[in-house]
Amino acid sequence: MQSLTSITELRQALSALTGTVGFVPTMGALHAGHGRLIETSVRETDFTVVSIFVNPSQFNDPADFAKYPRTFDTDAALCASLGASIVFAPTAEEMYPAPQQAFVEVARVTEDLEGKFRPGHFRGVATVVMKLFQIVQPHRAYFGEKDAQQLAVIRRMAADLNVPIEIVGVATVRDPDGVAMSSRNQRLTGAERTIAPLLYQALQLAARRIERGGRDPESIKQEAVAALAHPEIRIEYLEIVDPDSMQPVSKLEAPVRIAIAAWLGSTRLIDNVLAQPRS
Ligand code: PAJ
Repeated sequence: MQSLTSITELRQALSALTGTVGFVPTMGALHAGHGRLIETSVRETDFTVVSIFVNPSQFNDPADFAKYPRTFDTDAALCASLGASIVFAPTAEEMYPAPQQAFVEVARVTEDLEGKFRPGHFRGVATVVMKLFQIVQPHRAYFGEKDAQQLAVIRRMAADLNVPIEIVGVATVRDPDGVAMSSRNQRLTGAERTIAPLLYQALQLAARRIERGGRDPESIKQEAVAALAHPEIRIEYLEIVDPDSMQPVSKLEAPVRIAIAAWLGSTRLIDNVLAQPRS
């Protein structure tokens, strides 16, 4: 496996390859969730490129950016063990040599959920992903359903801007107690980690109601919120949305995504599940 930091070197290495290229963009602090994306790419393409770049422009809170975990050596070892061909870990200067003047804005699908609570976040994500797409020019790119709105934003960006890359969604990898794996879980205290499973349990409760014929999104939401009544949990949103537009639904007819963001102490966690209403 090659480990590269410069765009020029990466382009040279890529031009020597013959075969399909899969791309897994990450911010490092890799865990089994990222691992699943890498494994899927290694299985489905000839060469897998993993990028590791903690992108400053998508953090709306500078303190969050500063304390984001950085574990390059173990990350690179994991990529190598899973069969990645190249790890690309540029510096911020390499990615942003001058203040950026061109941006990718994706409109409607960014309006709710994360978009509402993290202004500018998706502009930062879409712009850096487009830059990375132009640098790597892969055939396929892999994103986790854990960040379902991000996946929907990238799909929309690729469709609307005719990006010739197949966007592949990969199911969320969870700890045995149901907690969605996340680099941010490392920040939870022992006590917070014991209550973290409540988030997924509340999502499953809502999904079961929908699958058993529940028809009113509002009352199902309220029931899930009530299940999360705990002094250590502060819910930012819990919404039942259309999986493509990521906008709240008023009727339960087609498949929906139930998405949550909540604070446990000073850590913000997100999660979501799909639910299929009974016909
Ligand atoms: P990061 O949070 O490092 O996540 C990289 C990829 O791993 C994303 O596609 C994310 O959805 C996926 N992922 C994270 N946890 C997962 C889990 N438990 N199961 C399955 N997939 C999981 O998302 C980003 O970085 C950045 O926004 C990025 C796209 C790299 C742009 O900077």
